[in-house]
Amino acid sequence: MQPSELNMTTTVTGHQLFLFVTFDDGQGNAELATAIDALGQGMENVHDVDGAPSAEAFSKGRFQLLRSEQGLTNDQQIIHTAVSESKGLIRLECASLEPIKEYESGFRQLIEAAGGSVETLAGVMRPRSYTSHAMTEFAYAHAIPPGPGEKFPLAAVTPINKTDAWWQMDVLHRESFFLPRYNENEEMVVKGHALASAAGVPRINRRLVHSSDGYGLEGSYDFVGYFEFAETDASVFREVMAGLRDKDQNPEWKYVLEGPEWWGRRVRTGSEFVARV
Ligand code: HEM
Repeated sequence: MQPSELNMTTTVTGHQLFLFVTFDDGQGNAELATAIDALGQGMENVHDVDGAPSAEAFSKGRFQLLRSEQGLTNDQQIIHTAVSESKGLIRLECASLEPIKEYESGFRQLIEAAGGSVETLAGVMRPRSYTSHAMTEFAYAHAIPPGPGEKFPLAAVTPINKTDAWWQMDVLHRESFFLPRYNENEEMVVKGHALASAAGVPRINRRLVHSSDGYGLEGSYDFVGYFEFAETDASVFREVMAGLRDKDQNPEWKYVLEGPEWWGRRVRTGSEFVARV
């Protein structure tokens, strides 16, 4: 087999939808709040869950409501105002697409009736493509598990695309960007993705979805990252993003175009979700 014949995994292990809400001049109200709570009946509210989901909860669907932290959200290379200016987000995840698509269409009707709009980012969960046993130990075995909103109140969403030049490299070449690189004297010259972001392993809970229909396509991001962390670890998240964006230490980012880095605060109920500041 030739490196050029290798592909990333095509296995799908789950689905996620990110529903970003924008209100023009319509405002949330008590009725809308109650209707949002009713939409989630039968699904698990992630807000109070400590640890990984049960298979049963994942098969029925799970949701997390978030209000935007607009002062913290920042634009990167790809301007996408339906995301950066959104007032709230509902993140949905499920083993199959149908239950969360149904939630999405019910939610869209409610928001449009209240004078707002919904922008959906969709993605699929996949097994890792570039990760050896050693990388599993380094980057995942000691990673902090998901926690409740009281513990990890802040979240950030990072939609990104990789450039055509990235997708033209073969898979072994792309894999090399996740590892440190060494010169002819075996001195480390570049940290690579995993070492550049290592501070986040014990402090930032991270999830990643891939574009459902393939990479490098118009109209969908290649990846959407989702991160949850404690108030006191916001600086760690910023440090990790700075490390990844430092092209000298992480040359992978030469091939990255980022959408908005959206920041939000996890909330438990529809009324907290629609409340205006
Ligand atoms: C917190 C510490 C982090 C560690 C240890 C880490 C490590 C890794 C590793 C090992 C992979 C390869 C997965 C595979 O085998 O497919 C990966 C993929 C990825 N990571 Fe991170 N990461 C971290 C944070 C972040 C952050 C903050 C972002 C923000 C954008 C990010 C974006 C991505 C993306 C988009 C991919 C998929 C890249 C591709 O397949 O081309 N990571 N990460």
